[in-house]
Amino acid sequence: DKLDLDEILKFAISIARNAGKLIRDGQAKRFASDAAHEDEKQNSVDLVTEVDKAVEDFLIGKITAAYPHHKFIGEETYAGEEITDEPTWIGDPIDGTTNFIHGFPMVATSIGLTVGGVPVVGVIYNPFLDQLYSAAKGRGAFLNETVRLPLTGKAKPLNSLGEALIGVEYGSSRSTPALPAKIETFKNLTLDTKEGGKMAHSLRSLGSAALNVAYVASGGLDIYFEIGPWPWDVCAGMVLLAETGGASYGSKASTDRSGEPSAKIMASRQYLFVRNVAPREGQTTRETQA
Ligand code: IPD
Repeated sequence: DKLDLDEILKFAISIARNAGKLIRDGQAKRFASDAAHEDEKQNSVDLVTEVDKAVEDFLIGKITAAYPHHKFIGEETYAGEEITDEPTWIGDPIDGTTNFIHGFPMVATSIGLTVGGVPVVGVIYNPFLDQLYSAAKGRGAFLNETVRLPLTGKAKPLNSLGEALIGVEYGSSRSTPALPAKIETFKNLTLDTKEGGKMAHSLRSLGSAALNVAYVASGGLDIYFEIGPWPWDVCAGMVLLAETGGASYGSKASTDRSGEPSAKIMASRQYLFVRNVAPREGQTTRETQA
């Protein structure tokens, strides 16, 4: 049977807002308690709190009650599930857990739905800034449900790296050679070589993959790339990006170059997101990027 994406979008927005309230309350409680602590996952900078888990439980409860036949893949309950053609919710209760712990307000609940492996609904809600990014396939992308994205004045195509503000992240994988290679790339993007090459305007690290993608969709960032995030970090954002004319890419081996969201891109865990760029004659926007 056919899914009603408008209905699903409404539902996703409502659970995202409620999750946001749990996040705000959870943080207030943590800051009021001397006993608040976080657990380590892969290493000492890969963190999880009781609020991440409570919010994921909340999301699972709401989704299974409303859509009992749908699947769910989430950060805190992940057990190696692959993205299939079944309707699948892919969510991160708190994207930006490190920010959440420190009180840096770039934190979001990220909720996506894939059908046939394609992300078709995406909601990203930052409860500290009360900013809600939402999109459904074919219906456009919005900030706070009313402001159409990309934001006015940001729809101008991106022509070169020399005019780009680029989102990058340190991520939680800090070993050699991964971290030095990353830092080398940061340097290459920003070093003034005095040889006529253009430096990127600058780099930014929001500390939330989902918000990085949302900012590329809204126009605040031009590009975001990172190796290491998971499907739940980017699923919702990819819908926003597609609805604003931007493109999503995965690793070379895992995907075509169409820029269209797909399960393959998500599974690659090597992500490049680009807002709309100037098409050359005879090309569509996405062909130019590929
Ligand atoms: C992480 C954040 C971070 C990014 C990592 C993600 P989490 O998600 O989005 O900015 O660098 O790659 O795993 O652990 O806060 O949900």
